[in-house]
Amino acid sequence: MSAPAKAPTTAGGRETWTSSTGFILAAIGSAVGLGNIWRFPGVAYESGGGAFLIPYLIALLTAGIPILFLDYAIGHRYRGAAPLAFRRLAKRAESLGWFQTALAFVIATYYAAVIAWSCSYFIYSFDLRWGEDTLKFFTGEYLRVGDPEISTSIVSAVALPLVLVWVAVMIVIALGVTKGVQSVNVLFIPMLAIAFTGLVVRAVTLPGAMDGLNALFTPDWSKLADLSVWIAAYSQIFFSLSIAFGIMITYSSYLKRKTNMTSSGLVVAFANSSFEILAGIGVFATLGFMAHQQNVAVGDLEGLTGPILSFVTFPAVINQMPGGNIFGAIFFASLIMAGFTSIISILLGVAASIQEKFGLSQKSSAILVTALCAIPSVLLFSTTSGLLALDTVDQWANNIGIVVSAIAMTVLVVWVFRKSDVLAGHLSAVSTFKVGRIWRFLIGVLAPIFLTVMLVDKVVALVSEGYEGLPQWYINVFGWGTIAFIVLTAVIMAAIPWKGRDDESFVAWPQLEEEDR
Ligand code: ALA
Repeated sequence: MSAPAKAPTTAGGRETWTSSTGFILAAIGSAVGLGNIWRFPGVAYESGGGAFLIPYLIALLTAGIPILFLDYAIGHRYRGAAPLAFRRLAKRAESLGWFQTALAFVIATYYAAVIAWSCSYFIYSFDLRWGEDTLKFFTGEYLRVGDPEISTSIVSAVALPLVLVWVAVMIVIALGVTKGVQSVNVLFIPMLAIAFTGLVVRAVTLPGAMDGLNALFTPDWSKLADLSVWIAAYSQIFFSLSIAFGIMITYSSYLKRKTNMTSSGLVVAFANSSFEILAGIGVFATLGFMAHQQNVAVGDLEGLTGPILSFVTFPAVINQMPGGNIFGAIFFASLIMAGFTSIISILLGVAASIQEKFGLSQKSSAILVTALCAIPSVLLFSTTSGLLALDTVDQWANNIGIVVSAIAMTVLVVWVFRKSDVLAGHLSAVSTFKVGRIWRFLIGVLAPIFLTVMLVDKVVALVSEGYEGLPQWYINVFGWGTIAFIVLTAVIMAAIPWKGRDDESFVAWPQLEEEDR
């Protein structure tokens, strides 16, 4: 890893990635995250196994990749983090940029907590500190999970690694796009690929591995009639590709003018999905081994989804595996690397938004934003109600926040501000893989219709059935409260004037050419 002495910039002074490989690695680093390892295998298993691959692929092709291209086009053409890019696209669109930034802020607060758990579990792997009863250890001794309440009782075993995660994030973001973010990705992504491939190879050679793979991939076609399975597929794709929450807009704003964006996008999307499928294979082959040891069917194992899968079921398997502690250390190190390269992308988007709005230096905005995010992160997610709060906030941010953001973005850009022709032209002018009518149809018609039907279904289900039996006041505070926070932030931030800019200064790409020379 050789970091340049001085970060490269455009003539306009905006920092850029050193090469398209640097950008592709960073974009893969952002995409491949906890969503791939911690979420995908469980979601796929719960949502029809092999049959889930159908909504998954449809979601990838009809919305994931088209909206990834849309993010790229907006960031590259209007050269800014989400609020500035949308402000340049149309004055009234700025609040959508803040909606995405606030959503990223919320996601970062709990995302960091899962990385912190992974740091603890990385260390615990060496002496299998979780003992025989891994559920009791995780929820009892480690997280000290209490009732659904607003707890002020901080668990130091979680708070300490969480603070360290935030310090590391702060340093990387303050170092900037090339010296910080790109360097971390250039180092971690190859390491992650090697470590995870090693895990998967070990997993598929364990006795019982095939039973695990059969459990994951045997299709349950009846699930395809269930709308919630389709929502799970679309949410998984959006979260996983890091789209519709400002990250890819910010990343592409740091690209040089002449960049082959659509081809890079295809590389990133397929690399991400390949990693996701690989993670599914690794995790379920390992579970097959566990079922084999206990002489039960894989489907009869407990805890195959959510955080329990990684932090309860996996440690239990590691206990039974010869050389389990090394396997465990590599598994949790992979979670840390995958999570870290994603959280820095989430925070970079938020820091760049604040930097541009208030005319701050990159370092000050990095320090300010990381500190602002770290405080609620520690206060909410390292307390005794942290696990419940995390699960609830994630459910709303992911299934409602990201979907609302994607609908608003496609409808506003295509129908209200009528920019799809301009953006298609922009993408095609700089890329070898051109986009045209099909892309405009997907982002303008198919994606918003699909997403709206799914969103309505999800909202009706959450309103009528509640969530996981939690008390209504808790759902109001941590679920709907999350959405209210995001909307309020969007409205307030858009109303604050830009420092050092007047209305004429919000010019798009062609006018910026002068500045670039
Ligand atoms: N794209 C990131 C993930 O999958 C946020 O975890």
